Amino acid sequence: MKKIVVLLSGQGANLQALIDACQRGAIDGKIAAVISNRADAYGLIRAREADIPTALFERSNYSGNQAMDKAIGDFIAEIGADLIVLAGYMKILSQPFVERFAGRILNIHPSLLPKYKGLNTYQQAMQAGDSEHGTTVHFVTPELDSGAVILQARVPIFADDEVVDVEARVKEQELHIYPLVVQWFVSGRLHMEQDRAYLDGRLLPPSGYADE
Ligand code: GAR
Repeated sequence: MKKIVVLLSGQGANLQALIDACQRGAIDGKIAAVISNRADAYGLIRAREADIPTALFERSNYSGNQAMDKAIGDFIAEIGADLIVLAGYMKILSQPFVERFAGRILNIHPSLLPKYKGLNTYQQAMQAGDSEHGTTVHFVTPELDSGAVILQARVPIFADDEVVDVEARVKEQELHIYPLVVQWFVSGRLHMEQDRAYLDGRLLPPSGYADE
């Protein structure tokens, strides 16, 4: 069974969706460890409740970002993980780490990439007057939030929405699309080649797979 390692910094709602999907057999894989860069991440509690080993890597214990990422990478290599899933990991991974695990790192980002990379994507979309927002699962490459898009989910933004309304809509979608993409990867249907995403051997379009 394929081994998955999840990296997170916060709530872990996406982690929970992945745990649940593994438990009901919707993902043919095992979450071998959950790694956090924050001791207070609620995701760590979710992992422990599911009997998944956890590891904490705090920046203050390392001389630099690369040293920290080297330690995380060595830990992941030791486990022999097939896939690294970023689920709200709010720290930019250094280039050597990304290159070490090229094609084996997925991220979920709360915007319709390439729109709104980085932080505060909800505020950005609403301030721009957008009528829709969404979330993107993509392969991780060294440039932030720029790797090949695999799958997106769109949600509407209504005139009287607050940020929390749009965020709730987006997060609900994330819990559906991330387990699906993880299953595509662990079942061998999805891969990255020369920074492009392929599903069932077919090159995915720039906005990813769309089920019409
Ligand atoms: C998710 O909404 C995810 O899209 C976002 O963090 C949230 C984590 O929620 N990721 C990023 O912003 C990465 N740039 P969760 O901890 O409840 O899964």
